[in-house]
Amino acid sequence: MTDILNFWNTLYESSNTPWDLSTYATPFKTYLESPYAIKPCKTAVIGCGNGHECELFLDYNFSVTGIDFADIAIQNTAAKFAARGVYNTSAFTIKEDFFKLDLENEFDAIVEHTFFCAINPKLRYEYVRKVVSMLKPNGYFIALWWIMDKEDGPPFGVTQGQIFKFFQNNFDFELAYIPKDSHPSRFNSELFTVMRLAKKF
Ligand SMILES: C[S@@+](CC[C@H](N)C(=O)[O-])C[C@H]1O[C@@H](n2cnc3c(N)ncnc32)[C@H](O)[C@@H]1O
Repeated sequence: MTDILNFWNTLYESSNTPWDLSTYATPFKTYLESPYAIKPCKTAVIGCGNGHECELFLDYNFSVTGIDFADIAIQNTAAKFAARGVYNTSAFTIKEDFFKLDLENEFDAIVEHTFFCAINPKLRYEYVRKVVSMLKPNGYFIALWWIMDKEDGPPFGVTQGQIFKFFQNNFDFELAYIPKDSHPSRFNSELFTVMRLAKKF
């Protein structure tokens, strides 16, 4: 684990963060503006990076917990919360390895953006188990998946079929579409999904 943590810390320390869009991914905002958006609730952003999606969900009155294990990522996210004057009131950070979290039945919703493709593919079922455990019954899993056919990584390739395969046992898919407002570098290679927890284990 130390090696993988060092890997991510080194990327942040050297400002080698090519995944970072410098802002939230637009499909999340489009969703939050839509009639399908869920109501503000207690939400975790997993692998939150520099906290862009955390800020977006705060804009829409969600309570947000940004989770990441990289020092600079969490510092930058915390600084954004502090600048808004909401740190530790409606916005929280957890600096921890996602796979070691012990937060059972804690969140009404979880947000995913380029975290699943960042982890070792061998950990994908463990990822599903962790998301399931962290959500309250009937909780929402709101995700923007970077779809690509690529074996090495990170980012490791993810196909649409894999998304359905990994999550269909525990979740009902309420929305699943290819966004029209992806970042130009990811146009037509993303899938936006909103899933609802149907079965814990
Ligand atoms: C590709 S970045 C995505 C960051 C952010 N979601 C975004 O889209 O800008 C992946 C993030 O996951 C974090 N990460 C990777 N493995 C992790 C783990 N096991 N536990 C917690 N965070 C992890 C990294 O530190 C990094 O910030």
